[in-house]
Amino acid sequence: MGSDVTALLEELTLAEKIRLVHGAADPDGTATGYVPGNDRLGIPPVTVVDGPLGVRAMGERATAFPASIALAASWNPELAREFGTAIGRETAAHDQDVLLGPGVNIIRTPTGGRNFEYYSEDPHLSARMGVGTIEGIQSAGVSATVKHYVANNQETNRYEVSADVSERALRELYLPAFRAAVEEGDVDAVMTAYNRVNGIYMSDHERLLSDVLKGEWDFDGLVVSDWWGTRSTVDAARAGLDLEMPGVELTEYFPEMDADSFDDDPNPPNGTSSDFPPIPDVSAYFGEPLREAIESGEIDESILDDKVSRLLSMLESTGRQNVAKCETGSPSDDSTGELDTPAHRELARDIAIEGTVLLTNDGVLPLSESDSVAVIGPNADAAKLGGGGSSEVSPFTETGPLAGIESRAADVSFERGVNPIAESSFFGDSELADANGSASAAETSIDDAVSAAASADCAVVIAQDDATEFTDRDSIELPGRQNDLIDAVAEAAERTVVVLRTSGPVELPWLDAVDAVLETWYPGQADGEALAAVLFGDADPGGRLPVTFGRSAADYPTADETAFPGTDDVAQYEEGVFVGYRYFDDCDIEPLFPFGHGQSYATFEYDDVTVSETDDGCDVTVDLRNVGTRAGKAVVQVYVGKSAAPVPTPERELAGFESVELGAGDSATVPVSLAREAFAYYDENSGWIVPDGSNTVHVGRSSRDIRATADVDVQ
Ligand code: GLC
Repeated sequence: MGSDVTALLEELTLAEKIRLVHGAADPDGTATGYVPGNDRLGIPPVTVVDGPLGVRAMGERATAFPASIALAASWNPELAREFGTAIGRETAAHDQDVLLGPGVNIIRTPTGGRNFEYYSEDPHLSARMGVGTIEGIQSAGVSATVKHYVANNQETNRYEVSADVSERALRELYLPAFRAAVEEGDVDAVMTAYNRVNGIYMSDHERLLSDVLKGEWDFDGLVVSDWWGTRSTVDAARAGLDLEMPGVELTEYFPEMDADSFDDDPNPPNGTSSDFPPIPDVSAYFGEPLREAIESGEIDESILDDKVSRLLSMLESTGRQNVAKCETGSPSDDSTGELDTPAHRELARDIAIEGTVLLTNDGVLPLSESDSVAVIGPNADAAKLGGGGSSEVSPFTETGPLAGIESRAADVSFERGVNPIAESSFFGDSELADANGSASAAETSIDDAVSAAASADCAVVIAQDDATEFTDRDSIELPGRQNDLIDAVAEAAERTVVVLRTSGPVELPWLDAVDAVLETWYPGQADGEALAAVLFGDADPGGRLPVTFGRSAADYPTADETAFPGTDDVAQYEEGVFVGYRYFDDCDIEPLFPFGHGQSYATFEYDDVTVSETDDGCDVTVDLRNVGTRAGKAVVQVYVGKSAAPVPTPERELAGFESVELGAGDSATVPVSLAREAFAYYDENSGWIVPDGSNTVHVGRSSRDIRATADVDVQ
């Protein structure tokens, strides 16, 4: 704690301290959350703003970057750092102090409403991408907030559901990305999840907040609640919650909405959450009730002092403490940031390209500019900016697939084929809302799409799903009549390319009937630019799947309702550490496309693979050659099989990876180092153990395309 902070703490009265541990309405009306400053002592206000895909300052615009799952599909932590720096500078440009992102929760169920806002089913990939993003954000002089701590893996009944999860699964699967955010990314803030973990609300969870986060991991930053996610005064204060957000009642926060428009039962009996969070029964648990608890001696004032000092230290660390903002209303010069610059627009495009996964290609891609192209799809003329909810962004500019392809091909036709897919939006002012009903049913016809496809050299069908915060999806099928459309087009067209814009895994019933499939997730404002660059071969589709594509939702460990969405407010995490590809491997289920899968326009040979034990773990090298005719990107993936562990362990667990670009004919020796901790398992009594004995190292192009294995003895 700096001397400034100590001195300020001594000066602040009890009432002034209380004012600093719960939010208030932002007088400017742009922030997502606001903590008033203290003019008397020169403490500036603190403004916090969503979200993981771009800055959502109310009523304002920002660069709409690709969804987090698209960034994760790049398997490029350096790109994550560049993204973090850019979104951090846009946060500063909006005169906001804290960004409420990234979200690093594990993608446990394929129908998760917020899967697009998260990275992966794998903790190692999630951790690498989260650390890169956080370091970037905070390099811009603003604070990052890693969220939602922890086991927030579904939207259904999110305010009440208890994730009943073993300590081992927490430690090996759900906590690692948060631990890395703290211990490696030095994240300034952690946001508690709405849900309970083993029966205790996360904002009241003393063991996970104080013993683990602040104790074991030595987190010295700020623990902030999710919005209306605080559930008590004394328990939360003691547990380690430091800041209650937003700190005002719904009707004050959303003044345009009247009180009775909020569901007074935050969790209707059918188990699906209502659109709105529970209305707090006090304007702020950390307001008057906390003052009373301190004055009565129920809570020692030192607990309040710790919370206030964490807030002030965060301001001090980002250089916003006592900045000119307090007097002149503007941040210090070095945090003026930048907004919607050419560099940010190019970065949004580059991330979309590197996140694009080429699932199959019979050689139809890349296309030639001289090809005539029939662009087909209900929403193909609009960029897929993101999903619904707090992550929505309103960009300055956007390019849909149709415009992108028209900029590269001479002869382009366009048919929707079926009715537009509605796009969920929580904030009516977002661009997402504009995409709804962009055409009436009368204007769409599969027959028209079929004839356009039949008369073109190639049909490119753009299909998408609709995901949003607040609810989970009903299935992983493409919504509406998009599957019928693809079937009909594939039958008529000479060549058919399907472009998927989905929030996660999706069923592909027409897979054998088409010639190529690209997964672009929610590519953001540069959607059409990136798609055209990949379709016409200006860039290699650089993505690898961060999630397993099963044949149906039934293939996943969350197929049973006791697992998801749970029964009687409890979701049983019976699968333990066997989530995603770990589960598919353990149950020997053949995925449609495995974790880590992705083709390239180049052709890579994995020549000599060496695995050598070191004092710290083991080093892997792969001699990689691009024997194709085009430059391309490879992602060398290294998995471990912890065969020395005396407990059931997954067949393979991602432990390291390296992305590399190689020109045609080029080669490189790619190193991947594994720390000895990569071979550890968590024992609920003894903690982390690296067992003596032989383990297996798998080196491959994906979790199922293994090119070399070796046994290693890690002492
Ligand atoms: C939302 C989300 C959280 C967001 C916050 C502020 O309910 O869960 O991710 O940052 O509230 O909008």
